[in-house]
Amino acid sequence: MLEGKRVLLVIGGGIAAYKCLELIRLIKKQGGAVRVILTKAGSEFVTPLSLASLSGDKVYEDLFSLTDETAMGHIELSRSADLVVVAPATADLMAKAANGLANDLASTTLLATDKAVLMVPAMNVRMWQHPATQRNHRRLLEDGVCFVGPDDGAMACGEFGPGRMAEPAAVLAAIVHHFLPADRPLAGQHVLITSGPTHEPLDPVRYIANRSSGKQGHAIARAAAVAGARVTLISGPVTVPDPQGVEVVHVETARQMLDAVEQALPADVAIFCAAVADWRVVNAGQEKIKKTVDGVPPLALVENPDILATVSQKKNGRPGLVIGFAAETETVIEHAKAKLARKGCDWIIANDVSPATGIMGGDFNSVHLVRASGTGSSPGVSEIESWPRMDKDAVARALVAEIVKTLDREGWV
Ligand code: CTP
Repeated sequence: MLEGKRVLLVIGGGIAAYKCLELIRLIKKQGGAVRVILTKAGSEFVTPLSLASLSGDKVYEDLFSLTDETAMGHIELSRSADLVVVAPATADLMAKAANGLANDLASTTLLATDKAVLMVPAMNVRMWQHPATQRNHRRLLEDGVCFVGPDDGAMACGEFGPGRMAEPAAVLAAIVHHFLPADRPLAGQHVLITSGPTHEPLDPVRYIANRSSGKQGHAIARAAAVAGARVTLISGPVTVPDPQGVEVVHVETARQMLDAVEQALPADVAIFCAAVADWRVVNAGQEKIKKTVDGVPPLALVENPDILATVSQKKNGRPGLVIGFAAETETVIEHAKAKLARKGCDWIIANDVSPATGIMGGDFNSVHLVRASGTGSSPGVSEIESWPRMDKDAVARALVAEIVKTLDREGWV
């Protein structure tokens, strides 16, 4: 995916700098080339020798090195790259870049570059949350800088919260996404996505629901739109905002979601991310159910239509690639395989939604991609890929990149 692409990696001074060793390995494995600028503080955490060995290139450290400046000066370093990645992007590097300061090789290169910049912040949680860093973050976003992370979790300093550097696989996904062809690889394709929960009324004021937030489905809609697709997002009731550049249809119940999906077809790719309620109440009251002396009201449940199975098993007008999700709390892969066969879709993205994972409603996801062999409804399972834990935007970008790769290779659409 990165054949012929050149990444200039600026390594700042933070304990997370060690993750850059793995990042370099991943970029090179994808066919990309990496050239490293190491700040003085960065060199306290990783050695030029390790970086040079992995990147297969000289490591640049000094703005005032006569030999370096003659052979490959700071302007040339940025000219020779297709993308600049700053990882870990420390509070100091972010502050310099946001304010146009240039007093060492890293900051001078960042000021001199006209290439896209991707920052991967890592710092103590209070440094990240400090108004100054947040102001710098906003300013850099306005300047067109892209960000991956920071992740939430336990930090080397013993504190907990946002500030951990994103995992190398998530940074790689963002780099691959950046290099999706400039002509927007999903241009001309219609991608249909369901997202969020459904609400099934018991009466006009009460309903059955689940904990789905819509964050993952909405992130996929955003990533597909960035890749040039015409996106229709059928969303259950959520509090996350509508993604830009996407046609959003708001629904409440499973049956409304199925109607909206039918209306939105045909599609080239359909992704069913919604946590559709399996059952609805047949005898939902028109008026609010009142407490009576007779005890609790009898609620009769009936199964909702399975939207994913309905679309997967269409004889006519089935989308070329149908992707389902599997929300499981135990034996995740076994259940996902069974679901893939039962529903007849092409891929299942399986995740563990046990409360302890924090996935449902949270910002992170860790998924397994289970593919059926061949297209259409095939009972065989050819491949299972387990992706590392990433934020939901990174999962969305990785999924879109995977769709593009598959469409390129197999020309399904
Ligand atoms: N799905 C759907 N319509 C339904 C139920 C599920 O389209 N009525 C889709 C979901 O959007 C997801 C996939 O089917 O892509 C699997 O959903 P999940 O809730 O994991 O599985 P269920 O089919 O509901 O089975 P179970 O609850 O028994 O695990």
